Amino acid sequence: MTSTGNATQVTTCRVCGGQDWQPVVSFGDLPLADSFLEPSDSYDAEPRYPLGVICCRSCRLMSLTHVVDPEVLYRTYPYTTSDSEMMTKHMQRVVEICGDRFGVTAGSFVVEIGSNTGSQLKAFQKAGIRTLGIDPALNIVEVARRRGVETLPDFFSVETAASVKEKYGAPRLILGRHVFAHIDDISGVVEGVRSMLDPDGLFAIEVPYVVDMLQRNEFDTIYHEHLSYFGVGTLATLFERHGLKIVDVERLPVHGGSILVFAGLADGTWATRPIVEELIAGERAFGLDKDGTYEQFALNFASIKEELVSLIRGLRADGKRIVGYGAPAKGNTLLNACGLGLDDLEFCSDTTEFKQGKVLPGTHIPVRAPSEVAVDEVDYYLLLAWNYSEEILKKEQAFLAKGGRFILPNPTPSVVPSQA
Ligand code: TMP
Ligand code: ZN
Repeated sequence: MTSTGNATQVTTCRVCGGQDWQPVVSFGDLPLADSFLEPSDSYDAEPRYPLGVICCRSCRLMSLTHVVDPEVLYRTYPYTTSDSEMMTKHMQRVVEICGDRFGVTAGSFVVEIGSNTGSQLKAFQKAGIRTLGIDPALNIVEVARRRGVETLPDFFSVETAASVKEKYGAPRLILGRHVFAHIDDISGVVEGVRSMLDPDGLFAIEVPYVVDMLQRNEFDTIYHEHLSYFGVGTLATLFERHGLKIVDVERLPVHGGSILVFAGLADGTWATRPIVEELIAGERAFGLDKDGTYEQFALNFASIKEELVSLIRGLRADGKRIVGYGAPAKGNTLLNACGLGLDDLEFCSDTTEFKQGKVLPGTHIPVRAPSEVAVDEVDYYLLLAWNYSEEILKKEQAFLAKGGRFILPNPTPSVVPSQA
């Protein structure tokens, strides 16, 4: 590994130890996607780190080229789990799947890694399940505790695992939702998990599905927090190396397409469901094992960038006012990687209080509360929070009815309703 400031270049695959990397795409030096700035901050000192993706030719892990120090990224972390209708329903579904398929029901003990403000654990608590959260973000742990979700302010490691097991006993389920892709030392985490599991215990992780990302050109889900982009086959390799096996996978529509992967001890209670082999075969058929698939993804990014920029600049030339809908982390990759800025979007509207009144990293586009946006200020919304498109289009019927339109960036840029 070589280091530049707080970023370290990846040389060895964190899944299989391989070193034969296919370069996929590079977006240049970008600021951190969740580092919103005060408008008064000096923008000159904004730290930037290389952002790019490579793919391991042995196990086909897609990885960032550089890892930013987690102490920089996560000790104070502005990201809070969305309380959107879609997410609330999704978390309920996770509780049901764990209960129906694996008997995680009233009286069971569930530990969540990266538990954030505790929304998922609250849903488990409603089903009578005992919970414990573990999260390194001190500001966020405070929020979770105030909501009645006991949370340890820590990164998860073999040491944390040992002290949790000693104090609370072995969990039936250890869950990590949208956190596994953020962790560099995944071997350490899997070892820690294995040391806590009983034969009927389960490790469940929810990660964005690399097949969905590649198929739908979701290049903006690449940012410094997301170190790994996983398929089922790659995760199976990882778990096998640590004495675990995948027993079930559920595909889910959240965050642009995700998988909830259940693993148990290799010699544990749970039998492997056929869906696991089916998905791995599907990944092979899709071409996850071929360089050409990743080359195509990079080409798709280049053509989307060109199309989106020319669509937006054309509308600006016609005097249209364009505003960002949402200010999610991925929006910052989209804008910075495409070279869009203040001349293109006047501001973004976002429901997250923390982001309101700040400016976006890199582009310095201001963020406003939706209540502060007048109807006649917007002709087009660029839907940066596209993972909630269904919910947002439903909510914004009045805007659509008065002739407002949305620009959707993926799978290829389009305008809703169509201008035809
Ligand atoms: P996420 O995809 O990481 O959850 O981020 C979504 C962002 O979009 C978050 O900052 C909240 C914002 N948002 C809105 O502003 N309006 C909405 O209706 C929804 C669903 C999200
Ligand atoms: Zn590998």
